[in-house]
Amino acid sequence: MLELRNVCKKFDNKIVLDNMNLEIRNGEIVSMLGPSGSGKSTLLNIILGLIPMDSGQLLFEGQDISRVSMKDRGFNIVFQDYALFPNLNAYGNIAYGLKNQTRGFSKAELEELIDFLELRPHLSKRIDQLSGGQKQRVALARTLATKPKILLLDEPLSALDGVIKETIKTRIKAIAARYNLTTIIVTHDPEEALTMSNRVLIIDQGHISQYGTPAQVIHTPANPFVEQFILKQLEIKRDNIYHLFQKCHA
Ligand SMILES: Nc1ncnc2c1ncn2[C@@H]1O[C@H](COP(=O)(O)OP(=O)(O)OP(=O)(O)O)[C@@H](O)[C@H]1O
Ligand SMILES: [Mg+2]
Repeated sequence: MLELRNVCKKFDNKIVLDNMNLEIRNGEIVSMLGPSGSGKSTLLNIILGLIPMDSGQLLFEGQDISRVSMKDRGFNIVFQDYALFPNLNAYGNIAYGLKNQTRGFSKAELEELIDFLELRPHLSKRIDQLSGGQKQRVALARTLATKPKILLLDEPLSALDGVIKETIKTRIKAIAARYNLTTIIVTHDPEEALTMSNRVLIIDQGHISQYGTPAQVIHTPANPFVEQFILKQLEIKRDNIYHLFQKCHA
């Protein structure tokens, strides 16, 4: 279990995370959902160990990891822009994290992961020869191969469209189940959050607005913010889809 206790963070005297308390169970998929600037990426980077918090505690399996380095925490992230190495081909990227690592995938596990993500036909391609969805899978494979204790995904679907989005969504869920991997996904899209995760954390200006299952969020929104942000956005989307549908069939 990952626990955040009274986590606070300021940037330039502006409170970005205000006394956050949170528990994430092993094997759970949690989405962090909130408007732009609400503190989602900051929270993800604090969990990863990339940026320090000002005060509070982070516990993993009951151990205080607040001062443990990013490397020793053993979590790993897929950044929004994937951050692939352009000088290495797809395979070079996937295997990169295994250099000088003791806990990463074995050769056999890596081969299995490559097949699981259907990357075998693309292994020798340069990064600029890959489609968006293929890049996403290479980035996922590179991160998964390091056997992260927690998988962090910052807006994993935002650069993808339609069908590919659905495929990657299904794959992320399958990966979490297959490797019993605690997965934290940052998104600003309620539909993504509600369809991908066991629990949704709704953040508003550095505060937790609600933390619950998708059903709880939909049926019992904790406050007007949740209602407005989540449900109105979904309605807008539904309206858009409806209008689009009408247009197509006019
Ligand atoms: N390194 C930094 N220095 C100063 N301010 C920062 C820094 N990083 C983030 N902030 C500020 O902290 C707040 C939260 O930023 P954060 O990136 O966590 O938001 P977010 O919820 O991920 O937004 P988005 O959906 O746009 O990615 C914003 O007001 C942002 O301007
Ligand atoms: Mg962000």
